[in-house]
This record gives sequence, C-alpha cells and structure tokens, in this order.
Amino acid sequence: MRDTLDQLQKQALSEIEAAKDKEALYKVEVAYLGRKGALTDIFKQFATLPVEEKKTMGVLCNEAKNTLMLAVEKKTAELENKDLHARLTSEHLDLTLPGVKRPAGHIHPLSQVQHEVEEIFNQMGFSVMDGPEIESEYYNFEGLNIPEHHPARDMQDTFFIETGVTDKKHGRLVLRTHTSPVQVRTLERFGAPMRAIVPGRTFRNEATDASHEHTFHQVEGLMVDTHISIADLKGVMQTFLSRLFGKDVLVRFRPGYFPFVEPGMELDFSCLLCDGKGCRVCKHTGWMEFMGCGMVHPSVLRAGGVDERKYQGWAFGLGLERLAMMRYDIDDIRLFQGGDLRFLQQF
Ligand code: FA5
Repeated sequence: MRDTLDQLQKQALSEIEAAKDKEALYKVEVAYLGRKGALTDIFKQFATLPVEEKKTMGVLCNEAKNTLMLAVEKKTAELENKDLHARLTSEHLDLTLPGVKRPAGHIHPLSQVQHEVEEIFNQMGFSVMDGPEIESEYYNFEGLNIPEHHPARDMQDTFFIETGVTDKKHGRLVLRTHTSPVQVRTLERFGAPMRAIVPGRTFRNEATDASHEHTFHQVEGLMVDTHISIADLKGVMQTFLSRLFGKDVLVRFRPGYFPFVEPGMELDFSCLLCDGKGCRVCKHTGWMEFMGCGMVHPSVLRAGGVDERKYQGWAFGLGLERLAMMRYDIDDIRLFQGGDLRFLQQF
C-alpha cells in the first residue's frame, strides 16, 4: 500500500506540474483529491489494515494529501500569474497613440438660418413666440377670417386629425397649415401693442417636389400698434433682408390674396445674383418672389380681442426652407429632411 501511495503521489505531482491551464489542473485535482479520487480510494482501504499499520499509513496518506494540495495551490498561483502576464502584454495601453476621434454633430442649416432670423428681429424689438403644431380649425381658419365653406381653405391642403370629436367653437383638430394661427393666439394672450415673430413647423398634404415639402417651416411676423402702415413693413423687411444677406436688398409689393389681411400683398426682393439687372435665376425679372403679407384684417384683430378702431398692424408669413435655399444656393428642398450627412456636413 505504501508503494502504491508513493507511486500515486509521484504520478499526481507530475500531472499537476504538467497542467497547462486551470481547467486541466482542476481535472487532475478531482482525479486524485476529489470524492471519488485515487487518494480518497486509498483512505477507504484503511478499514482492512491492522491497527499499527493504520496509524503509520494514516500519517503518510495525510502527508501525501497535504503535499498534493500544496502543489495544486502553487500551480494555481503560477497559472494565474501566467494569465496576468499574458493579459498585461496583450492588453497594454500605448498612451502615445492618437485618440479615437468621435464625430461631433452641429446645428442643422435650417436651425442656423432660423437663429439668424430670430436675432435680427430681436434686435429690431420683436419677441419670438411659439404656438401649437396641432391646431384647431378655429385658429387655423375661422379666427383668420376663413369661414367653413370659403374657397380659400382649398389653398392649403390640410391634414385633419381624426378624434371623432368636433368642438362647437373650435371644430376639428388639424396639423397647422401655416404659422398665422399664432397671430390670434398671441393677440388674445398679450394684446396690443405687439411686435413678434413666430418660427415654427407647418404641414400640408402636398405631393413633394424640389420646392414643396409636406412638412416645412414658416416664420410669421406681426406688428400691431396705433400708427402702423405698409411703410413700416417695407422698412423692416428691407433691413431684415439686407442684414441676412449682407448686402443692400430692395423690396417691392405686388397685390396678393389672403383672407386675413387687407390689403393683401406678395413681397419680392431684388435678385441677389444680378442685383436686379435680370438673370436666369430671377427669370430675367430682377426680382425674387418671397412671401405673403399685408395689413392685418380687422376681423383678425377682433378675434384676438384687440380694438380694431384704435389699433392696426401688418403681418407676413415666409417659408424658412425657401429662405435657406436662397441663402445657401440649395436647389432641392427635400435635402433638409433627407438626413444625408454629405449634405449636412457642408454647413
Ligand atoms: C401663408 O401660409 C400665409 N399664412 C402667409 C401670410 C401670413 C400672408 C401673414 C399674409 C399675412 P403661403 O401659403 O403662400 O401663405 O405660404 C407662405 C410661404 O410658405 C410661401 O411663400 C413658401 O415660402 C412657404 N411654403 C408654402 N408651401 C410650402 C411647401 N409645400 N413647401 C415649402 N414651403 C412652402
């Protein structure tokens, strides 16, 4: 039995030494020291031994067990060291290498133009107002002097929201087709005198093309006071456009029809490319068509709770995408919402 024990110890020690990794070492440990291991087997054979021999063999077996346990412990530490060394050499960090460059976003070109517009108007004493994108028929139409069966409603293809509910005064809900509803909302809330612009998202059920989107942005302008005339509108727009484009710009008015202004007008500005001489871009007219505007209709002032005998004012509504297109010479409106980084990174 003693010989068997010697041999078993030798064999176990050489297998422990040869173990290449922790998994192999564990297998050896179980094979010799486990519940059904070879050394445990020898302990089980004690029962058959005479008393004297039991004592000496007991001591020897315990020694062998301790030797093997120590050897396993030592090998475990050795393998862990090896692992650590391997990790340290494979995962080392070279602090002299250049870092990973993370792409940083920037402000969308449309927002850039919007901020510029806000800043210029701010400096002329205009507040920047906001209004809901989901609007009632009342504010989008009736409050702006467009009654239910008025053909002017056909000028703006409307997205209606199906709620199944129609309010007596406010009608159904719509996605606002223009920023003009905020004229009435602002007057209702703050009264006159009033000087405000309202940039915001608007929606129309339109087939898209290079100059039409179903979702686009407008900037509404509103100035109401006791001595306001079209001359103020002309001065404000001329100053605004000259500052935005960084050169002297002239404006002119043509008659235009919008039920919420009287008189209603279209405003053009002198072509930026040819300075009004006439070129391909302005179709040889020297003018660029720009926006709708006019003197606020008395019924709109009334809807806003403003005394139309005391106050008058003007309003305009311009398309922000079209303005940005002129500013940056962009030939397709769909690029703004296309999400193409090659386009966006140019700004
Ligand atoms: C209006 O929406 C009026 N509310 C403007 C107004 C306000 C007139 C105050 C008088 C007083 P219009 O439908 O023309 O008007 O739109 C105004 C501008 O929005 C247009 O000049 C154009 O630049 C822009 N626009 C209109 N439809 C689209 C579209 N589908 N895609 C992109 N821009 C558009």
